[in-house]
This record gives sequence, structure tokens and C-alpha cells, in this order.
Amino acid sequence: MTSTAQPNLDPYVSKAENNNASPHEKIKDLHEIIKSVEIGMLTTRASNGQMHSRAMAPTALQSDTQTSLIFFANNASQKFDEIENDAHVNVSFNNAKTTSWASYAGIAKISQDKELIKRHWHTGLSAWFGDLKDGVHKGDENDPRVAIIEVIPDEIRYWIATKGTVGRALETGIHAVTGGVSVPGELRTITSAEIQLTQGLHRK
Ligand SMILES: Cc1cc2nc3c(=O)[nH]c(=O)nc-3n(C[C@H](O)[C@H](O)[C@H](O)COP(=O)(O)O)c2cc1C
Repeated sequence: MTSTAQPNLDPYVSKAENNNASPHEKIKDLHEIIKSVEIGMLTTRASNGQMHSRAMAPTALQSDTQTSLIFFANNASQKFDEIENDAHVNVSFNNAKTTSWASYAGIAKISQDKELIKRHWHTGLSAWFGDLKDGVHKGDENDPRVAIIEVIPDEIRYWIATKGTVGRALETGIHAVTGGVSVPGELRTITSAEIQLTQGLHRK
């Protein structure tokens, strides 16, 4: 049976969901998760329907309200064909230590804007490209393979752990005995409207 969400049958989500924080607070906590993890998994969809994920390191967040993610990538790689096939992508982050995680559902925009590349480029990125010794593909910021994938989210969902390891173990143990659900954190959504609002405010 397929079902749309049934909150009464899913006490974990009902109990964990908390969207009382302001959009700015939610983005601030989201940034903490991203900064703690550093590497996300970018998922794209191939023309045969297969979903492929790979590790990607977003560039440093530039403002307190940034909701988009910026990645450098080689435009000869498979993910570009897949984004061309379907621009809908997901980027997920998972902190195995705290259990906090985040999931961006959005649209990937490909760019080779020189100014954008210059603004975010750092020499460590050369490792993803390599110098092909042909005088053109040098693995620097002027290399024609260097492209930016900007993920503009429609919606961001994340779980932020509010209890440490001991608290989580305690909570899980108690609820395993009592039949309750263990919710040592908060499940939050940054909606499309909130994203638009904060990005609009940011542009001013
Ligand atoms: C820790 C880590 C970070 C990575 N970050 C990037 C990145 O920022 N950009 C990139 O193009 N590839 C990055 N890669 C390589 C990708 O995971 C992937 O192998 C490569 O982009 C080719 O992917 P594709 O063939 O699916 O397009 C990273 C790999 C690792 C292990």
C-alpha cells in the first residue's frame, strides 16, 4: 500500500517535527550541520532512471542566510549529463557522530561564470582536475573543464540532534521499554516560501 503521510501512524515524525524557529534561526542551525560535516552527497538522475550519488565538497558559506550550495566540478564528468537530463537534484549531509543530517531538494544550475569561479576558487580544487600538460587543461581556474554546480533548494529538511550521545542512549533505552518513540532532536523544514523570503531579504 502506498500512503501519503499519516501523522497519527507516525509518532516519531509528529513528535520530532518542530518548525517554531524563525527562518533565520533554522538556516543558522542548518549551517552548523553543513560546517561540521563538510562533505555532502549529490544525487542526480540518469536518463535510464537510475539515481547516482557522489561525495562533493561545497564551497564555504558566504553569508548567514545562504541557502544555495556551490560546488566545483569537472564538466566532462557524468553528473553533468545527468543534470542535463534532469535538473532536480538532492544534496544530503550526515554527521555520524551527532546524528544530525540535512537534505536539500532543489534544482542544479550549471555555470562557467568567470567572476563566480574567481570568487570561490582556491588552489586545493586543482586536485579534482589535474594538469593534462596540454597548456589548456591545467587544472587552474581558467581550465575550460572548471564549472560550478549551484544547487538552489526548493525545500530543505534537516534533523538537528538536541541531546548528546548519553542523552540519546538514555532516551532510546527508556522508550524501548515503555513503547514510546525516541526523539532526541528536532526535525525541521525550511519551506520554499521561507527560502524565497530569506533570499529576497538577503539581496536587499
Ligand atoms: C571527500 C570527497 C570530496 C569530493 N568533492 C568533490 C567536489 O567538490 N567536486 C567534484 O567534482 N568531485 C568531488 N569528489 C569526487 C566525486 O565524489 C566524484 O567521484 C567525481 O566528481 C566524479 O563523479 P561522477 O562521475 O559521478 O560525475 C569528491 C570526492 C571525495 C572523496
